[in-house]
Amino acid sequence: MKPIEIAPGIYDVGVNDWNIEDFHGYSTPFGTSYNAYLIMDEKIALIDAVKDKEHFPEEMLHKVAAIVDPAKIDYVISNHTEMDHSGALGKVLQAVGVDTPLICSRVGHKNLALHFHQDWNFKVVKSGAELSLGKRTLTFLETRMLHWPDSMFTYIKEDQILFSSDAFGQHYAGNEKFDDVLGGAVMPHAKKYYANILMHFSPQVLKLVKAVTAMGMEFKMICPDHGVVWRKNPRKILDAYVRWANQERVHKAVLVYDSMWSSTEKMANAIAAGIAEKGVEVRPMTLRKWHRSDVMTEILDAGAIIVGSPTLNNNIFPTVMDMLIYMKGLRPFNKLAAAFGSYGWSGEAVKQINTQFEAMKLEIMDPGLRVQYVPNKESLETCVEWGRKIGGAIVQG
Ligand code: FEO
Repeated sequence: MKPIEIAPGIYDVGVNDWNIEDFHGYSTPFGTSYNAYLIMDEKIALIDAVKDKEHFPEEMLHKVAAIVDPAKIDYVISNHTEMDHSGALGKVLQAVGVDTPLICSRVGHKNLALHFHQDWNFKVVKSGAELSLGKRTLTFLETRMLHWPDSMFTYIKEDQILFSSDAFGQHYAGNEKFDDVLGGAVMPHAKKYYANILMHFSPQVLKLVKAVTAMGMEFKMICPDHGVVWRKNPRKILDAYVRWANQERVHKAVLVYDSMWSSTEKMANAIAAGIAEKGVEVRPMTLRKWHRSDVMTEILDAGAIIVGSPTLNNNIFPTVMDMLIYMKGLRPFNKLAAAFGSYGWSGEAVKQINTQFEAMKLEIMDPGLRVQYVPNKESLETCVEWGRKIGGAIVQG
């Protein structure tokens, strides 16, 4: 496998992880890539490493060696401590030289020490610090909590190329290495990535976009640590990030539920029909089929989150609680919310879902809808009417 020259003298020496299916709770049916970048100048810099799994470190070093003897690398830059980018650092430094300056943020230094317990030659940089490689200058920009406290970007001002760590990434493994080559598929991957990795950090995203705009930074190319490089129109992903960070909503309801004996499912279908009658897009998503990370992708731009659960042993059904906990961590906002469900005798689930909605500070638009045991014709008509009410509220905004 050859390294890919993404710009004159700049190479992607990362690897594809074709087979990963679960990325800490995020379903990755298209795999992912761990990108790392080699910059050839009078001084040579390597940005990030790869996961220390299987053959990945060896493959990365093989790609580096196809361009230059790794021992000639002058600087290793760690934009982010998480192990998918730092895991192979030990093996990389063995090949490059253990005394090679390892450039990172202040928190990066602390976190790398806590991960690897090695006395490497750390060089801590602050936001705005510059490093000349010869013809090119690297500028470092701390991006705390985007998405870890150690995260930072590296920018080449002469080429206007940004190495953005996890930001603007997509979990996608492919031989396509650029947005224009992957084509229309790139935005759905980027949206799922934002919804599941960065939604929680939306205020920091908006702050960062404001800061780089104020600094007058222009981007001809954005190179994330996962997926393809944005070269055709980097503005497109920046604008999408602003939209997603504001959680701008469209006329759409996500109706996520599970069911024990199909009664909650019957309610879900009737509610969906009522919502659709108001001209609102509705996505009924049973947790027997849909992964929580796909549900979050749909929630990102939805106007309403409708959650359905039967009551099991006086509680919310476990799959629905899993969904709610995952959702709460990602902090959706600017959404209406409502709960429904079938029950046998105690029926606590709807109330407990509302408690979760309150914890998420979502706008509960209705106390909830319950049906005892199996819905009949009348109760299904009540569900349709309840759906119409939700659809009308979404349209009214
Ligand atoms: Fe791709 Fe935060 O690691």
